[in-house]
Amino acid sequence: MKIVAIVGSIREESLNMYLAKTMQERYQDKLDIEIADIRSLPHYDQDEENNPPQAVKEFKQQIANADGVIILTPEYNWSIPGVLKNALDWASRVEKVFIGKPVFPMGVTMGTLGTIRAQLHLREILTALQAKQVPPAGNEVLIGLANQKFDLQTGKLVDETTLGFLDSKIEVFIDLIKSA
Ligand SMILES: Cc1cc2nc3c(=O)[nH]c(=O)nc-3n(C[C@H](O)[C@H](O)[C@H](O)COP(=O)(O)O)c2cc1C
Repeated sequence: MKIVAIVGSIREESLNMYLAKTMQERYQDKLDIEIADIRSLPHYDQDEENNPPQAVKEFKQQIANADGVIILTPEYNWSIPGVLKNALDWASRVEKVFIGKPVFPMGVTMGTLGTIRAQLHLREILTALQAKQVPPAGNEVLIGLANQKFDLQTGKLVDETTLGFLDSKIEVFIDLIKSA
């Protein structure tokens, strides 16, 4: 299955990017996970949406071609980062590439609340985009206290309990894609 991962942080040592890369490697036998480049997207501009810059065209095509999308968001000021909202705004217009698309929201933070507020906002936005979300009940991937769960030298998620939880939730996502 072809999956696009959208990481809502563009910093070099992003924990959310670490999680995306951990999943890319861990699930390589069943999922072909490509990480989207949202750093190169310009600011959304309605004047350009009918003929957007090349980076936007490629981003939207990548989503359109994917069987599913994983969105990994940090929490910024109780919401999702602007770079992520910007990417979703581009994807929401003209060819509306999220309609019916299976999407799995998740997030990582050093803090204790595991990006819950950001993910609640993200799920509202995904509802506006008419995405087919992994149902939240029992399936929220809220990774808090990340400094205790990641090896910050290698960037790998190493906490076995979290990895086991993620393994089972990836199966929920795969089932959602199969039923889409
Ligand atoms: C502008 C800004 C706002 C933030 N606001 C919150 C917040 O509201 N809640 C929270 O738990 N963490 C907040 N944080 C901490 C981030 O969640 C933390 O830096 C996280 O590691 C960012 O994800 P990343 O490692 O993938 O870049 C904020 C960080 C920044 C830079």
